[in-house]
This record gives sequence, structure tokens and C-alpha cells, in this order.
Amino acid sequence: MMSTLNTINNNPLKLNTNIAIHTKSVRTLTTKWCRIRCSASSKRREYNITLLPGDGIGPEVISVAKKVLTLAGSQQGIEFQFKEMPVGGAALDLVGVPLPDETLSVAKHSHAVLLGAIGGYKWDNNEKHLKPETGLLQLRAGLGVFANLRPATVLPQLVDSSTLKKEVAEGVDLMVVRELTGGIYFGHPRGFSTNENGEEIGFNTEVYATYEIDRIARIAFETARKRRGKLCSVDKANVLEASMLWRKRVTMMASDYPDVELTHMYVDNAAMQLIRDPKQFDTIVTNNIFGDILSDEASMLTGSIGMLPSASLGESGPGLFEPIHGSAPDIAGQDKANPLATVLSVAMLLRYGLHEENAARIIESAVLETLNKGFRTGDIFSAGKKDLKLEILMSRVRVKTIQEPASSSLTSVKA
Ligand SMILES: NC(=O)c1ccc[n+]([C@@H]2O[C@H](COP(=O)([O-])OP(=O)(O)OC[C@H]3O[C@@H](n4cnc5c(N)ncnc54)[C@H](O)[C@@H]3O)[C@@H](O)[C@H]2O)c1
Repeated sequence: MMSTLNTINNNPLKLNTNIAIHTKSVRTLTTKWCRIRCSASSKRREYNITLLPGDGIGPEVISVAKKVLTLAGSQQGIEFQFKEMPVGGAALDLVGVPLPDETLSVAKHSHAVLLGAIGGYKWDNNEKHLKPETGLLQLRAGLGVFANLRPATVLPQLVDSSTLKKEVAEGVDLMVVRELTGGIYFGHPRGFSTNENGEEIGFNTEVYATYEIDRIARIAFETARKRRGKLCSVDKANVLEASMLWRKRVTMMASDYPDVELTHMYVDNAAMQLIRDPKQFDTIVTNNIFGDILSDEASMLTGSIGMLPSASLGESGPGLFEPIHGSAPDIAGQDKANPLATVLSVAMLLRYGLHEENAARIIESAVLETLNKGFRTGDIFSAGKKDLKLEILMSRVRVKTIQEPASSSLTSVKA
């Protein structure tokens, strides 16, 4: 049983489906295990959470996620103190900068930060330092969150939402570990100038120091070790010096992880392989810009950007948890946003930020159960499914959070 439960830890989304269909005897064992664990950690816990709703659909999805977090927490003896702060366009409108000092300070002093999304047409023509996106980059840098974990799992319930053939998409379960605070997005020199012909040029610098590569590589090896033990490092070492150093350092670290199978792949090939045969991947580690692109590509394997969470972690201090989608100005305020990416980000917040595994699983189970019932938002809608408005989803999540399988663990906490 312990090995089953360990697998559940490593692969929560999938195996939570199994929990729901487990036989009575397995349920009893699960209950027993939870009783042991829960009694060991039954002390009441309190956490400060910074909420950054941001722009567009950000406030809509954050309000759902906050309710889900509060409910799951209350059933696990966890209390949350929330502080809502402005960021992005909302902060620009309020105080004239995309990341006010006070927002960063509150975020730094909390246990975890939950972000909705930033950006919108209104600020598109602002100067760079007054763009909402600048606030997000400043926030990531200010929190020192250099590792971005982006899972892409094709849930059996949503396999038909993928644009790939069913046999290609079915069973995809990968994790992109993206370096988040280095590389070309932050490198200097950068800017605009003129070349020898008097033409205007724009330029950026892709630069990585060994410590930046080593720390992200270590997180990737550790992540792969807890999954299926396969790590693919993606670079462009046939052309870029920064990638040559990347490959050298990642290869050196492999000797610390003999149980992890390390492979290397050029980014152009990786982009192709993700579409051709995505099941070959378990954990992918890559730099900031390649990770930005590949993780969005991976998200589409799963059918919708509205389903995918992410966690950004640093060496110490609070993690930043956010859906991978943007502020979706085209649907903002219309009650069409899929809140599940943010709800699943809350599960990552509980697991990676607060180490509250039971509460994380309750939320993941609630999401799966909601989908099992056939409820869908527009972005993942398919024939024969029930149109799901935000409020309906909220109530489904609420009900399932209360009743959920992991109810065995809830009962034992109360007992
Ligand atoms: N982390 C962030 O906050 C972040 C990330 C990406 C883009 N942005 C910003 O968001 C704004 C819009 O960018 P974009 O249109 O390229 O990307 P987007 O992710 O906001 O939207 C892309 C498409 O996906 C849809 N979509 C996104 N999230 C959805 C959800 N939860 N439910 C249903 N449908 C959803 C949108 O309606 C749109 O059609 C821009 O200002 C951009 O800079 C912010």
C-alpha cells in the first residue's frame, strides 16, 4: 500500500482518479494511512497568502481559487490569512507602477503568493517600464523564484480536447522545468542602437552563469527522480555558447543522480518531438526562453491553456503560483474563464509551497470529479458535455471538496 501511496504522491492527478474507484479494502487502508499521517500533523496550521488578482480574468479565477483554498484548508486544520495586493495593469491604474514596493514587500513576507494574470489592451502601448508584464518579471526576480515547474498532463476526461490524435495525446504526463530569472529575458547588454549602415537595431543577450545552471539542474534532477526518472535537457548547444555551458554543467551533475536517465535534445527537435511523440518525455529542463515556448506548446497537448497550473520556486522564501494563461482580455468579465488552472495552481501551492499534501490532493480530486460529472467551460467544451458557468463550477468544486474521497482522510482528521 505504501508504494501505491508513494506513486500517488509522484503522480497525483492521475492516481487520484484511481482513489475514486478503489475497492473498499483499499479505501480502508488509505484511511488507516491518512489517520497515521493526519494525527502526526493534526496541529492547527496558519499561513499568510498574498493574493495578486491582476487584470482581465485574473480577479475572476482568483476569487474561485481563494474559496477552494479556504475550504480545503478548513478540512485539514489549516487557516489562511489573505492579503490582496495590486500588480500589473491594476497597479498601474492605482499607483502608476506595475509592481508597487508594498506589493513586493507583502509578497516576500508571506508563506506563498497566488497570482491571477496581468496585462490587457489598455496598457499595450505603454513604455516598457510601465507595462504590466514588466511588473511580473520584477515580481519573479524580486522573489528570487528561478525554477518554474509546469506540468502538462492529458487527463483521460479531456483527451478529446487535444488537437492531437487521441492515440498521440492519450497518457501524456510531463513536467517542464524552466529557468525563470536568467537568460535572454534578463541579460545585458540589451537595447536599441544603430549599426554601421545607420540602420536601427534591437539586441539582447543570452547569458548563463554556472550557479544559475547548477541550481535549476538540481531541481530538475530531483523532480525527475520523484517522477519516472527520465530527464531531457533541452538546449541549442550546436550554435550557442550559453547552451554549450548549459549542457556541460547538466552533464556534470548527472553523476550525482545515477538513478535518473539524462538525455539532451536541441530545442528545434524538442519542439517537433513534443508534437510527434510527447509520451517519450517525463521531465524536461531548459532555459528561460526555450521553456517559455515549449511549455506553451506542451500546454496545447492537453487541450486548453485554461487547465494548466505552474509553480515558481526559489532557494528560500515564498513560491509564486499561477496559471500559465494570461489575462484573456477577449473573455474577461463574461463569466467564461476556466478557473481550473488557478485551482490546480492552488494544489501546487499546497504541495510545493506549504507541504500540505493532503489538502493538495483534496483539491485535485475535486477537479477530477467535476470533470467526471461532465461539466465543462467553453475552452474545453465538447459535444455531449454540460455547459459550465463559473458559478456552477464553483459549487461543484465546493461540494466535491467537502465530500471528496480523500474524505477518508477528512473523517480521520475529525475523529
Ligand atoms: N502570466 C501572465 O500573467 C501572462 C501570461 C501570458 C500573457 N499575459 C498577458 O495576457 C494578455 C493576453 O495575452 P494572450 O491573449 O496572448 O494570452 P492569454 O493566455 O491571455 O489568452 C490566449 C487565449 O486563451 C484563452 N484563455 C486563456 N485563459 C483562459 C481561461 N482560463 N479560460 C478560457 N480561455 C482562456 C483566451 O480567451 C485567448 O483566446 C497580454 O496582455 C499578455 O501580455 C500574461
